[in-house]
Amino acid sequence: MFVLVNLKTYPCDPVAVAEAVRDVDESTDARLAVAPQAADLARVAETGVETWAQHVDPIEHGSNTGHTLAESVADAGAVGTLINHSEKRLKLADIDGSVRAAERAGLETVVCANNPEQIGAAAALGPDAVAVEPPELIGTGTPVSQADPDIVEDAVEAADNVDSEVSVLCGAGISTGDDVVAAGDLGAEGVLLASGVAKADDPQAALEDLVDPL
Ligand code: G3P
Repeated sequence: MFVLVNLKTYPCDPVAVAEAVRDVDESTDARLAVAPQAADLARVAETGVETWAQHVDPIEHGSNTGHTLAESVADAGAVGTLINHSEKRLKLADIDGSVRAAERAGLETVVCANNPEQIGAAAALGPDAVAVEPPELIGTGTPVSQADPDIVEDAVEAADNVDSEVSVLCGAGISTGDDVVAAGDLGAEGVLLASGVAKADDPQAALEDLVDPL
């Protein structure tokens, strides 16, 4: 299972969480990675943890003030990027452009979407993976795998119908090892989570619990 921890703009110490993710990654067969804010990418990558960006823009080098260039993210040490997170929605043409920009820079891609219909559309753009996250469950602590298992199974089917090479992650409310196992049982190859680790009093203990049953 792939466990991707999105730090959003939570007031955690990104390096401390990155070190915890790195240490837990070394003790499990699961693949762990962390997605800090763009400004923290370089110092997080320096810890040796697998580092992801939260977003890249559909642009090239040039006059794009305030944008995030995929090559800069890769130069800072990221190996992948989220695209179209629920909190950073893009138009379809821009999702396509961001996936192409990420590919150009050698970044792995996970395109997020709200529901199975959007997952099918996202999979058609050829990312490495898609992530289904019902927005109403994000940050609630109620896991999507429990509250809405059908949405995960339908997302897996929707992606598979379009491109069986695209893996499917699920996210929203995931905070325990049982949630991760349930996601796997529904066909997901990984989970995308945030508050369960970034807002935990002890992020390392939260991560250890997440991977314990894997
Ligand atoms: O990117 C992960 C995310 O949106 C889920 O957030 O806090 O419900 O794990 P959370």
